[in-house]
Amino acid sequence: MTAPLRQGSLAEPIIVQVALGARAYDIVIGRGQLASLGSRIKALRAGAKTAIVTDATVAKHHLAACQAALNSAGIESASVVVPAGEGSKNYATFETVCEAIVAARIERGDLVVALGGGVIGDLAGFASASVRRGLDFVQVPTTLLAQVDSSVGGKTGINSRQGKNLIGAFHQPVLVIADTGLLDTLPERDFRAGYAEVVKYGLLGDAAFFAWLEANWRDVFAGGKSSGSLAREHAIAVCCRAKAGIVARDERETSERALLNLGHTFGHALEAACGFSDRLLHGEAVALGTALAFEFSACKGLISAADAARAAAHLAAVGLPTHLKDVPGGVPGVDALMDLIAQDKKVKRGKLTFILVRAIGQAFVENDVDPAQVRAFLEGQLPG
Ligand SMILES: NC(=O)c1ccc[n+]([C@@H]2O[C@H](COP(=O)([O-])OP(=O)(O)OC[C@H]3O[C@@H](n4cnc5c(N)ncnc54)[C@H](O)[C@@H]3O)[C@@H](O)[C@H]2O)c1
Ligand SMILES: [Zn+2]
Repeated sequence: MTAPLRQGSLAEPIIVQVALGARAYDIVIGRGQLASLGSRIKALRAGAKTAIVTDATVAKHHLAACQAALNSAGIESASVVVPAGEGSKNYATFETVCEAIVAARIERGDLVVALGGGVIGDLAGFASASVRRGLDFVQVPTTLLAQVDSSVGGKTGINSRQGKNLIGAFHQPVLVIADTGLLDTLPERDFRAGYAEVVKYGLLGDAAFFAWLEANWRDVFAGGKSSGSLAREHAIAVCCRAKAGIVARDERETSERALLNLGHTFGHALEAACGFSDRLLHGEAVALGTALAFEFSACKGLISAADAARAAAHLAAVGLPTHLKDVPGGVPGVDALMDLIAQDKKVKRGKLTFILVRAIGQAFVENDVDPAQVRAFLEGQLPG
């Protein structure tokens, strides 16, 4: 794939459209684009007031710039700052955010701005879906994971005591601004974890993009601040185009959208096994889960061992975990892992659903996986 590495400029972002009819929206991708937030909102909703929802860490780095961007276009903004971390996707914080939006007198025609990673996007998006039975909202994703995945597609929600993301709504944003410069303040570990989702798009449907990542991942990580390379913007745009296409064809995940769960069945089980703690970040679990999905596909004779090894080798090259032995503190035994897999993806008629691969870039949904085969596979993968 020949990438447009030097096309465009700060003033000229890449724009990806999400084609959802009356609910269509743009994803604006580029370094420095946060500064355009005010003028873009003004063009979209003249006279709108805004409430910015963010977390304490993101607020420290980027809230002032966000407020300035709105202020420069004459847009009023209130701010609600919640604690950083997955813990904020709970009922108590949801209540705080909803009440703050009401108190800021945000009404129909006004906008909520979600400034943060996937946690803030999910929380502020769900609050937007709920207050006054639905307010419009803008996503300003500040993590790589949020820029390539969670800010696009309209899934919003919080966690139940009984599981992740169980309380929520489909609610599409009216605009997404992915300012790639905001990722400069993201800790390297979080950037790397988000990169697992970038690799996912190549592995599930775009072999040429995967090959491009193998060659250019260092520039994606570096972000072009000094070199002027637009590799990071290009990678984010490819992912957003892929997700936008999938969401436009299957908004409510009745079929194709499930492919985005590549690596997530094993991944969620491992995340749960680590108690959703810092021991294993979501993206790290996805990397490991993806390597396992490829290895499992190879065991089933669907792809060559060489292709499975190639997928894992790239994830390992950037420093992501690809073996169960890579999980700090270890993983539980096969019985516990099988229980977690069964909890995550409901067993239907005794069979499990997995996203498997026929080749690099050719994933498919397999609804008929025998749990005994998964168990035997995991036994072979467990250390010792
Ligand atoms: N809605 C969807 O389609 C979807 C898809 C994937 C994941 N998710 C959800 O996304 C969440 C994970 O998202 P995440 O990985 O972005 O986590 P996150 O929002 O918790 O962000 C990770 C950490 O980085 C900090 N941070 C964010 N931006 C920063 C920046 N620019 N500089 C410095 N620090 C920054 C945050 O404060 C946080 O501590 C999970 O709750 C997951 O369920 C949703
Ligand atoms: Zn994910």
